[in-house]
Amino acid sequence: MTQYKIERVKTGIPGLDELIEGGFPKGDTILVAGKAGTGKSILATQFLYRGAVDYGEPGVLVTLEEPPRLIKRNMMRFGMDLEKLEREGMLAIVDLSPAKPSPVNIGEYPSFDLSGLEAIIMHHVKKINAQRVVIDTLSILAYKFKSRDILREEIFKLCAHITSYGCTLLLTSEIPAQDTGLGVFDIEAFLASGVIVLYNEKISDTSRSRSIEVLKLRGSKHSSRIHSMRITDEGIRVWPGEISPGT
Ligand SMILES: Nc1ncnc2c1ncn2[C@@H]1O[C@H](COP(=O)(O)OP(=O)(O)O)[C@@H](O)[C@H]1O
Ligand SMILES: [Mg+2]
Repeated sequence: MTQYKIERVKTGIPGLDELIEGGFPKGDTILVAGKAGTGKSILATQFLYRGAVDYGEPGVLVTLEEPPRLIKRNMMRFGMDLEKLEREGMLAIVDLSPAKPSPVNIGEYPSFDLSGLEAIIMHHVKKINAQRVVIDTLSILAYKFKSRDILREEIFKLCAHITSYGCTLLLTSEIPAQDTGLGVFDIEAFLASGVIVLYNEKISDTSRSRSIEVLKLRGSKHSSRIHSMRITDEGIRVWPGEISPGT
């Protein structure tokens, strides 16, 4: 009997595909969670960069935190030229960073509405025929919405609309430093069909160690271990055979 295979999207993170049966299920919503500085933005941007360069899949980066200028500068350190991709029509960056007057009303209390955000994202998705979409970071929205129920509903609608076009959607979510569990990101985790957690834990008085865990991935037999991860000169890399020290 041939086994039914889900269509997969290569993550563009060396070593990660091997933990998840070859990639993210196409058209799913995946949450990348972790504390500040764990590599969420780099991982998400690398997903778009490698998707465009290695697999010919255009992507949309929605940035709610860092201005595009800084993202481009930082990604250049890994040899990833985002500006070139923009010129080639393989990448669109939607700048919703706080430094810039927002082109859309994200909907603050009490209006609760992400339809403006959805419209601008879909405009870019259609324009470049995007296969991959990143929203970095959802946590910013969580602060604007006072009602968790409405936030959940709005994010659900947004994700459903983007993925209904066949796009694979990566969301990032920040776990507060003092949070010992998965804390505020439970809303997004509930909505996402996959959750990847990044760590940068202290392993001694003088050192930290980066690692990655696939917490859940619907429709996939994934690793249940915590694997070593590093940020190298070429970006993020995972060592599938290496179990993280301290775990
Ligand atoms: N060129 C680089 N080489 C090695 N590590 C880097 C490089 N650039 C950034 N980093 C590491 O990555 C961290 C930032 O990653 P980022 O994806 O922005 O984190 P997050 O989005 O989770 O807050 C920095 O704090 C630093 O530790
Ligand atoms: Mg970030």
